[in-house]
Formats: sequence, structure tokens, C-alpha cells
Amino acid sequence: MRTVRTVLDVRAALAPARGAGRSIGLVPTMGAFHEGHLSLMRRARAENDAVVVSLFVNPSQFGDGEDLATYPRDDERDAELAAAEGADLLFVPPPDEVYPEGFDTVVHVGAITDVLCGEPARRGAAHFDGVTTVVAKLLNMVGPHVAYFGQKDAQQAIVVKKLVRDLDMPVTIEVCPTVRERNGLALSSRNAYLTPAERKRATALNRALDAAQAAVAAGHGDAATVLETADAELAAAGIDPEYVELRDANDLSAVDSVGESTLLAIAAPVGRARLIDNRILAAHGPARPPTKGRR
Ligand code: PAJ
Repeated sequence: MRTVRTVLDVRAALAPARGAGRSIGLVPTMGAFHEGHLSLMRRARAENDAVVVSLFVNPSQFGDGEDLATYPRDDERDAELAAAEGADLLFVPPPDEVYPEGFDTVVHVGAITDVLCGEPARRGAAHFDGVTTVVAKLLNMVGPHVAYFGQKDAQQAIVVKKLVRDLDMPVTIEVCPTVRERNGLALSSRNAYLTPAERKRATALNRALDAAQAAVAAGHGDAATVLETADAELAAAGIDPEYVELRDANDLSAVDSVGESTLLAIAAPVGRARLIDNRILAAHGPARPPTKGRR
């Protein structure tokens, strides 16, 4: 695996593969790799001829008072992990390679960045402007055929898909399942902020999603019941969520009951970490495998 730091170098390194018509997969990350990141790299490795992992802690998606200064960084370990997953290229641009002096463009996706994590009173749409601007740049810099994102950041994945569709960017966006610890806690670089006790408390997010899913399976798909069920699990763990919301899983429009594909999304502070998790619910449950006759 080679590490490159400039757009010129990343393009030069990929030119032979591109020229030979080989497929290029990109995994955009902010580093501090865990199994969630590695699962995206594995998927990219399985589906492409060349795999690029980008590592850039993007300042423009952090709000004032957020954790940019303390965001976990370990470039050496990250390079070893990416190499072990078979990445061909690690792209680690310094900030002024991405935002050179005079840089003055914002890529803004509309209404779907004003809800959930983008609500003005929460992180605000500026967070997603930071994400869409840097993702647009990374896609233009690397020119992948496929880029891989995690379902863990459900709204981010929906926003990136819309960005690519609206701007006719020639790339396929693949969304990969959320990787969890055995106790259900969704892996996140920000879990590093949790004490052992907080880590245990944080498992209530997944329990809240499980309980809501069980309520839906029992026929209680109205928003009030689903949200109350999730809230009760969080409250039992002493967690006061920033939001617990049901939305259409494709366009984030408001819904008042669980339909064919409905996103239940939670954001909650635990200790000094702001955690998010989500589940896609379906009124009629996931499709069942056909029943097989027994011998
Ligand atoms: P980061 O938080 O480093 O995440 C990189 C990718 O890993 C994202 O697509 C995220 O959804 C995915 N991911 C994180 N935790 C996961 C888990 N437990 N299971 C599966 N996938 C997981 O998301 C970002 O960086 C940035 O916003 C970025 C897209 C790189 C733009 O700066």
C-alpha cells in the first residue's frame, strides 16, 4: 500500500488502473479506524480492482464547540490496518491540499439537511455542508467508480446519495450495514471518549431500537407507540436524547407510522460523546425466507 498526500499523486497513482478500465473503489474516512471502517474497506476490496482509502479529519463539518481538536488520530495504526485490508492507496491530504488559500465554495444539499442532525438547534445544516463539500471534493479528486458509506450515519448516506444524483456525479454509492460490538453498541470513533460505565450505558441506544422493532413486529407501528417504546429504554438508562424520530428511510420526509421502509433515528449525549444510531423498520417485518419442509 502506498500513502499519497496530494491530488496530483493520487491521480497519477490511479492512472494505470483507470487507463486499463479497472474499477476503483473509494472509502472516505476521518481515521481512527475500527471494524466499521474495516468492513467498508473489505467490501471495497471484494468489489473493485483498486481500493483507495481517504483519511481526512474534515474541519468544515465540525461545529464550534465540537470535538475537532480532540478527535482521535492515529495515522500510523490506521495505515497498518488499511494495508492489512488490502487497500492499494491511502490518501491523506493535509488541510491546505483540500482547502487551499482562497477556497470559497460550498456544496449544499437542500431540505434533507435541515432535519435530524441538521436541525438548526442541533448541529445545523452547516455540518452537512461540510460533509457534502468534502465528499464532492474527494470524489472529484479520486474519481472512483464506487464509493462506500456506512448505514451507521444514515442521514449522511442519504444526503451523499442525493448529492451524487443531483449533480450527476459518475459514481455509485454503496451503503454498508452498521457494525456493532457484541453488546449491541454501534462502533464509532467517538466511543473512545466513553468511560467503561458510559460504554455500558450507551448500549441503551441499540436496546431502544430493538424494543421499537419488537413493538412494530407486534403490530404497534404508530409513531407514538414506537417513539414511546424507544424513549422508555433510553430513560431507563438515564439517557436524555437529543432526538428520537421516525422518518421515511429514502427521503427523510415525516411519517406518522411505520411503513415499508421507515428510519428510526436516535442521537443522544452519553458522557462527553454525542452518539447516533438507527434502524430501518418495516411494517410487515423483513421478508421471511421461504419455509422449508422438514424430513
Ligand atoms: P467517519 O466517521 O470516519 O466514517 C467513515 C465511514 O465509516 C462513514 O461512511 C461511516 O458511516 C462509516 N462507519 C462509521 N461507523 C460505522 C459502523 N459502526 N458500521 C459501519 N460503518 C461505519 O463519516 C465520516 O467519517 C465523514 O463524515 C466523511 C464521510 C469521511 C466525510 O468527512
